[in-house]
Amino acid sequence: MPKLWGGRFTKSVTKLMGEFNDSLPFDKRLWEEEIEASGAYAAALAKAGVLSKSEQKKVAGALAEIGREFSAGKFEFRPEDEDIHTAIERRLVEKIGEPGKRIHTGRSRNEQVATDERIFLKSADIEVTELIRELQLQVRDLARKTTDDILPSYTHLQQAQLIRLGHYFMSLFFMLENDRQRLEDLEKRIDVLPLGSGAVAGSTIKLDRGLMKKALGFAELSPNSIAAVSDRDFINEFLFAAAQTLVHLSRFAEDLIMWSSTEFSFVELDDAYSTGSSMMPQKKNPDSLELIRGKVARTIANLNALLTLQKGLPLTYSKDLQEDKEPLFDSVDTLTSSLKVFAGVVATLKVRRQNLLRNTDDSIYATDIADYLVGKGLPFREAHSVVGRLVLTGAESQKRLRDFTAAELRAISELFDDNYHKIFDPKRSVERHDVYGGTSLKRVEEQIDLAGKMLAKKKLRRR
Ligand code: ARG
Repeated sequence: MPKLWGGRFTKSVTKLMGEFNDSLPFDKRLWEEEIEASGAYAAALAKAGVLSKSEQKKVAGALAEIGREFSAGKFEFRPEDEDIHTAIERRLVEKIGEPGKRIHTGRSRNEQVATDERIFLKSADIEVTELIRELQLQVRDLARKTTDDILPSYTHLQQAQLIRLGHYFMSLFFMLENDRQRLEDLEKRIDVLPLGSGAVAGSTIKLDRGLMKKALGFAELSPNSIAAVSDRDFINEFLFAAAQTLVHLSRFAEDLIMWSSTEFSFVELDDAYSTGSSMMPQKKNPDSLELIRGKVARTIANLNALLTLQKGLPLTYSKDLQEDKEPLFDSVDTLTSSLKVFAGVVATLKVRRQNLLRNTDDSIYATDIADYLVGKGLPFREAHSVVGRLVLTGAESQKRLRDFTAAELRAISELFDDNYHKIFDPKRSVERHDVYGGTSLKRVEEQIDLAGKMLAKKKLRRR
């Protein structure tokens, strides 16, 4: 069979060029979207008088049959099928002849591909948003269970100040909340229907675009046919949101990987999310988290690929844009599986409470001591230097800060009194951070409550 566009050509493409040109190997994933959009287009053609009512019925029936062929894995592609659009049109003509040959009246693949991608991404976006929500539920549960566990926080990967573990996990919750909101927000820019734009200038058929919008459940019609067939900003935006979500996950993956090492032993991953070594029998490796950390790379690359693809690309459609689909599908799939695996890791994570303060020495209380001196009226900058000397003396004499005698303390500052020894209490230390957003029990509970409210606010969706 010749190509759908074969009329102008005297020679066919070489086999190599044919394969180079075909997007079918990857865009066949859009078969459902293509069938749906073609059905809506046929309805608009019927309203415009291009198809009779009975012809439209035939088209609708044949499209449904084609859908069943795909569902059953029985749709047969032919060598001349370049992409999902030509494959389905070719099959339609095989099935019903003439009305099938009219389906492309006033229509272009340029608008079809943009339409199919938008239908696809709308539901993919909703799905990943829901997966983030499910992960947030797990994270909040874990935070609730670990509010009373205290561990060192790190800055520069050096021990900084004591925090509640629940406070730490809530930081993941709120980063994910930003990711979820970002993905929800960009939906409105996906939710715009290009059909009716034709190849570039708008269709020559007086199509009722509103009818197609309604049939396909879109919120808006593209207001400019040139932008509609040229722009892929909605894909770029999704790819950024996907990469950002995974960048967030990768940082927590990294912490949990460190924390599951023998040196930290703060947590243990469930066997179900770890794998062994082919050589070293003792090994239990956190591969689930390593893979999540690793897979971020491709999602960043996908965003980079799409931006580079469009940079300086002349308006309107060029075949370059065919390259947009593989990165998009890859980021959707990578984000989906990573969110599911991360949720599983979180749900089964064992916290080794007894180890959390195992490698912490008294210098973790240095800021608490400085604040104590501030409480006695010393300006903070001076207090900082006094405690610096105290820590240095302790390190040189190999003495724990809590073991300093009253006389030794007085030698460093007159302001030290009997209350000094009360400082070395983890609970007291965290409770002092009683500011909105802080690590005191009340403030962490406040965060967990707020999280509940955020999760309860469900977005109203059209489809
Ligand atoms: N397979 C093409 C793509 O994915 C469809 C659009 C083709 N348009 C064209 N004018 N050749 O972008």
